Amino acid sequence: MNAAILLLLGLSLVEGEGRCFFNRTEEHCMCRSLSEESLGSIIQCLPASVVEFWGGHLERYAALPISDLQPSTIDMLETLSIRKLIFGDLLVPEVLLARVLKFFSYTQVQELVFESCSFVGRSNWTEMAGKELPVLTLSFHNVTSAPLTGHEQGFSSLSSWLETLQELTITSSHVTALPCAVGRVFRALRSLDVARNSLRDDSLTPAFCEGAFPQLQLLSLQCNNLTSYHSVCESLQLLHELQHLDISQNKLIAGPASSCQWPMSLRIFNLSGTGLDEVLTPLPPNLEVLDMSCNHLRTLDISLGSLKTLLLSQNMLQDASFIRNYPMLEVLHLDDNLIPELPRDELQLLGHLRDVAAADNPYNCSCSGAGGIQTLAAMVHLGPAWPWDYVCHSPPRYQGFLVKDVPVSVLQCNSAAVITPVCIILALLCVAGAVYLAKSRYRLF
Ligand SMILES: *[C@@H]1O[C@H](CO)[C@@H](O)[C@H](O)[C@H]1NC(C)=O
Ligand SMILES: *[C@@H]1O[C@H](CO)[C@@H](O)[C@H](O)[C@H]1NC(C)=O
Ligand SMILES: *[C@@H]1O[C@H](CO)[C@@H](O)[C@H](O)[C@H]1NC(C)=O
Ligand SMILES: *[C@@H]1O[C@H](CO)[C@@H](O)[C@H](O)[C@H]1NC(C)=O
Ligand SMILES: *[C@@H]1O[C@H](CO)[C@@H](O)[C@H](O)[C@H]1NC(C)=O
Ligand SMILES: *[C@@H]1O[C@H](CO)[C@@H](O)[C@H](O)[C@H]1NC(C)=O
Repeated sequence: MNAAILLLLGLSLVEGEGRCFFNRTEEHCMCRSLSEESLGSIIQCLPASVVEFWGGHLERYAALPISDLQPSTIDMLETLSIRKLIFGDLLVPEVLLARVLKFFSYTQVQELVFESCSFVGRSNWTEMAGKELPVLTLSFHNVTSAPLTGHEQGFSSLSSWLETLQELTITSSHVTALPCAVGRVFRALRSLDVARNSLRDDSLTPAFCEGAFPQLQLLSLQCNNLTSYHSVCESLQLLHELQHLDISQNKLIAGPASSCQWPMSLRIFNLSGTGLDEVLTPLPPNLEVLDMSCNHLRTLDISLGSLKTLLLSQNMLQDASFIRNYPMLEVLHLDDNLIPELPRDELQLLGHLRDVAAADNPYNCSCSGAGGIQTLAAMVHLGPAWPWDYVCHSPPRYQGFLVKDVPVSVLQCNSAAVITPVCIILALLCVAGAVYLAKSRYRLF
């Protein structure tokens, strides 16, 4: 039995003191630096649904002969309840991976994660041809390996598995290119996260070539080396199912106006932290969520009729009257801008609005300004920063006050409106009094 577990779990034999800890409540097993002596402690991981292996070198086991499995071992593998395996801080010989991976077809492991691993050497993946694996989610974070280009042969042997894979994550791993042939293998992939790599504008066109990632709904290109909005749009035009695109934290340069059309299916668009000082056009026409926080926007001069969430925190907006262009808005974030007054009338017209955040603006606490925000606070959820981070900037007598504490009663605010009628009434009373006096005197005499 030990031998089979050894195979299944990628031969986590390493030197030094190490063992596995099983947490029954969480069904989670954590193994650190296992050695041959402490290997037995893997046994306690058998009932776990998540097993982690951290630390060690596997390369010396690369040459280990691994023969086909006995029927009894296969039965055992089939009864395991492990759903997720995490490998961290390991040197993984690709040859070994190729040999061990085929046994996964007898398990129910759905998710494989490699963190801070180095894949070394090249393997012949022919033995995997036609094998189907239950793994649906595959993640690599901070890994190094030979570049994917030139690796297409391996991918084609793995294709019966890869074409059923649903989620693929390769982050912080210096990826510079995704060859066209690779994308064509991932026929069922719904989510691709390649954040924090070194993809450039010209790496995208081959990556998303005709027939690549035909089912892709979510794509994250966050924090790569993209610069041209237009060329990103051009490269992604063939992704007809794309719903969520994240190109945040790329330093985009506003190029000439573009006629490129984004996929019509796009609903969520993240342009946060892209150095924009103006809104780039065109935007996807059916957007529901637009994140343009952490830019240098001074105004927003576009209309999007279906927009429900608009995130604009950390910009340089000086007023918010543009919200009248978004009648379906439910969530609006305007924290940390230069907005002195929230447009109460426009906000009241937005019937679906339920979540507004607008802390850290230099509020003008004139009666209408402070009153507008106080009314808004009673109408919608103003976020956890209310009331503490809603502070008056002017007029001088309220500087540093919380907006919440500014008195906005009718008497204090609208003195003209109150005093004029009071004066008229007093005047009338005087007249009436005089007439009355005159009359009573007249009667007396
Ligand atoms: C198991 O995990 C739970 C939740 O994180 C924790 O409260 C508990 O202390 C853990 N048990 C052991 C034995 O570590
Ligand atoms: C990335 O992985 C390397 C080993 O491959 C490791 O030394 C480094 O600490 C990892 N970095 C992070 C941020 O985890
Ligand atoms: C891979 O191995 C198979 C046999 O398992 C062999 O026929 C094939 O030539 C090998 N391919 C490479 C590139 O070594
Ligand atoms: C990507 O940008 C980073 C800095 O943002 C830079 O250090 C790196 O060299 C760039 N990589 C490529 C491939 O252009
Ligand atoms: C957009 O990306 C940033 C990171 O760059 C993230 O913090 C933010 O939550 C994302 N916005 C949405 C709406 O997912
Ligand atoms: C604050 O608002 C009042 C009334 O709308 C206006 O008269 C005043 O100029 C504003 N102050 C500043 C500093 O904008």
